[in-house]
Amino acid sequence: MCGIVGYIGSGKATPILMDGLLSLEYRGYDSAGIATLEKNKIVVMKDKGRVKNLYELEGMNDLAGTVGIAHTRWATHGKPSKENSHPHMDNSNSFAVVHNGIIENYADLKDFLTSKGYTFYSQTDTEVIPNLIHYYYTNGPVSILEDGKQKFLGAVKSAIYDLKGSYAIEVISSLCPEEMIVVRKDSPLVIGKGMSENFVASDIPAILKYTKDFYLLDDNEFAVITKDTIHFYDNSLIEHNKSLKNIDWDANAAGKDGYEDFMLKEIYEQPTAVRETIGSRFHLGEKCSFDDVAISKEYLSKVNKIYIVACGTAMHAGLSGKTLIEKLCKIPTVVDIASEFRYRDPLIDENTLCIYISQSGETADTIAALKLAKSKGAKTLAISNVIGSSITREADYSIYTHAGPEIAVASTKAYTSQVVLLAILAMYFAEILGSYPQEEIEKLKSDIIDLPTKIEQVLDNTEEIKNFAKKIYTEKDMFFLGRGTDYNASLEGSLKLKEISYIHSEAYAAGELKHGPIALIENGVTVVGIITNPDLVEKTISNMQEVITRGAKTLIITNQILPNANFDYVVNIPDTNPLVSPILSVIPMQLLSYYISKFKGLDVDKPRNLAKSVTVE
Ligand code: AGP
Ligand code: GLU
Repeated sequence: MCGIVGYIGSGKATPILMDGLLSLEYRGYDSAGIATLEKNKIVVMKDKGRVKNLYELEGMNDLAGTVGIAHTRWATHGKPSKENSHPHMDNSNSFAVVHNGIIENYADLKDFLTSKGYTFYSQTDTEVIPNLIHYYYTNGPVSILEDGKQKFLGAVKSAIYDLKGSYAIEVISSLCPEEMIVVRKDSPLVIGKGMSENFVASDIPAILKYTKDFYLLDDNEFAVITKDTIHFYDNSLIEHNKSLKNIDWDANAAGKDGYEDFMLKEIYEQPTAVRETIGSRFHLGEKCSFDDVAISKEYLSKVNKIYIVACGTAMHAGLSGKTLIEKLCKIPTVVDIASEFRYRDPLIDENTLCIYISQSGETADTIAALKLAKSKGAKTLAISNVIGSSITREADYSIYTHAGPEIAVASTKAYTSQVVLLAILAMYFAEILGSYPQEEIEKLKSDIIDLPTKIEQVLDNTEEIKNFAKKIYTEKDMFFLGRGTDYNASLEGSLKLKEISYIHSEAYAAGELKHGPIALIENGVTVVGIITNPDLVEKTISNMQEVITRGAKTLIITNQILPNANFDYVVNIPDTNPLVSPILSVIPMQLLSYYISKFKGLDVDKPRNLAKSVTVE
C-alpha cells in the first residue's frame, strides 16, 4: 500500500529509483529497497527505515544496472525488518518482485509452494509471488514452456491468476534481462513513457520530472516494458492498444495524487481502506477469522467485562465497538478515554479483556493504559494501523486496520476502518461464543461487504455538502445531534469540525438537548442531525423540530424517508445496518469540515496546535 518505482532504459537505474522513492516518502512507509540487474544478475539492497539509509549500504555505489525496481513498504504482513523489506526474490534468485497491497490467500499459496520444496525467508505475503512465478516458469503449462518469448509473461500471468487480494506488482528477471513486467489490481500503477527509457511508479509524482506522458494501468492489465516498447495485455494475454495521457500537473498537487489535500485524498480512499480491512477475514457462510489471533472459547466465556480504551477519533470508533460487542456478544463493555483510564484505578482482573485502539500505535496515553491493564492481569488486544507499532509490541493480541498510511492530522479513513474492524471482531467473538443468531451475523456480514460500494455512492454525491459548507463557513458555533450509533457518529463529526475549521462545536445525544444545551440554540445557529436508525427516527426528528422552532438552521444526514419537514438541507446516504451506519454517516461530516476549512482558507492537513501522533502525555 505504499510506493513503487521502476526504470528500464540506457541510463543508470539507481539514481532514478532513489529519486522516485524519495518523492514517494510523503505516503509514509517503514522500509525501502531496490533491485537492479547487474550483468544479468539481480542485486538487491534493502532495509527497514528511511530511503536515504539505502545509500549507506555496502555496494550501493557500485550499482550500474540500467534496469531496476524499487519499493517503499508499509508493512501489512510481518514487522518492518530487512528480511521483510522488498524486493523479494524466488529461491533461485532469478526473479525479483516488489508489491504494494495484500495477498489474501498467501498462506495457502505458501503451503502449496512449501510442498513443492520452496523455502521462505520472510513473513510477508509478497514472497509467494516470485516463487510462484519461478514455479510456473519451470513447471508451467506447455503453452508457456514452449513459447520462449511469452515464457516470462506466461509465468507471471499464471502466478497472478492464483492471487486473491490487491496488488501492484513489478517483476524483473535475470532470465529475461531486457524486460520488466507490471500488473495491478485495486492498487495504483502508472507507466511513464520516455525516449529510449520507460518508467513505472505507483503514482505520477514519483516520475513526473522525467516525463509527462503516462499510461494509467487498469485492473487486471499486464504491461511488458522494454527500454523502447510498452505492450499491454488483458488477463488472457490478448494484446491491446492503450492511449497515452499527457499529465499537466504541477509537482505539488501531484504529491497528493491530484487531490488538493491529503485529507481529501484519504476521505476518497475510504472504499479501499474498508475493503482492505475486511480482506479475507470473513466470507458469507464461513466463520470470521483473524490471522494471528486465536482466542479460545474457554477464555472468552470467562470474560465478564470489556474495556475499550483510546483517544480522540479512535475512542469514537470504540463507541461503535461497544454497541456491536454488547449487542452481539452480550458482554458489558465500557469505553474509556486513555488519559482518564490510566489514572483512575479501573476495576480490572483476569476476566477483563482490554481493547486498545490507536491508528499510529504510538499514542502515549493509550500505551500507558495498556501497560496498566497488563499489570493488573488482564489480557490486552491492540487495534492499530501500523504493523510493529509500540502498542502492538506490548499487547497480547494485535489486529490491524489496512487503511494505508494516514498523513492528514484529522483522521478519516482510520476511523471508518476501525469501526469495520470492530464489527468483524464482534462477529468473531459472537461466533466463538454462539451468543447471537448465526443468520443475523450472516446478514451483518453481507451489509459489511456492501459498505465499500455504498461509501463510493456517498462520495459521488458531495455537491450538497459543499453548498452547505459555503453557506455556513463563517459561523462561530455548531451542534451535532443523534441517538444511539448516530450519536457516536455525531461526536466524530463534531471533533472533525473543531480540528480543521476552528469552529466551536458540540455533539449531544439528541435526548439530552432539553437537559441544558437547548439554552444555546438561538436564531441562525447551525444544527446537524444524524438520522439512520429506523427505531429512533421520530424521536430525533422531534428534537430537530425543537431547534427549528428556536431559529436553528438544519442539515440532516439520513438514510430514512423522512416526513415532510422544514429542514434547510437533507443529505441522503445509502441504507445499512444501524450497527455500522457511522461508517457512512460520518463521511458527509468529514466533507463538511473539509470544505468549511477550505472556504476559510485554512491549512486542512496541518491544523494549528495539533500533531498527528501524540507521543507525549
Ligand atoms: C483525529 O482526527 C485526531 N487527530 C486525534 O483525535 C487522534 O485520533 C488521536 O490522537 C488518537 O490517535 P491514534 O489513533 O494514533 O492513537
Ligand atoms: N503486503 C506487503 C508486505 O507486507 C506489501 C505492503 C505494501 O504495500 O507496502 O510486505
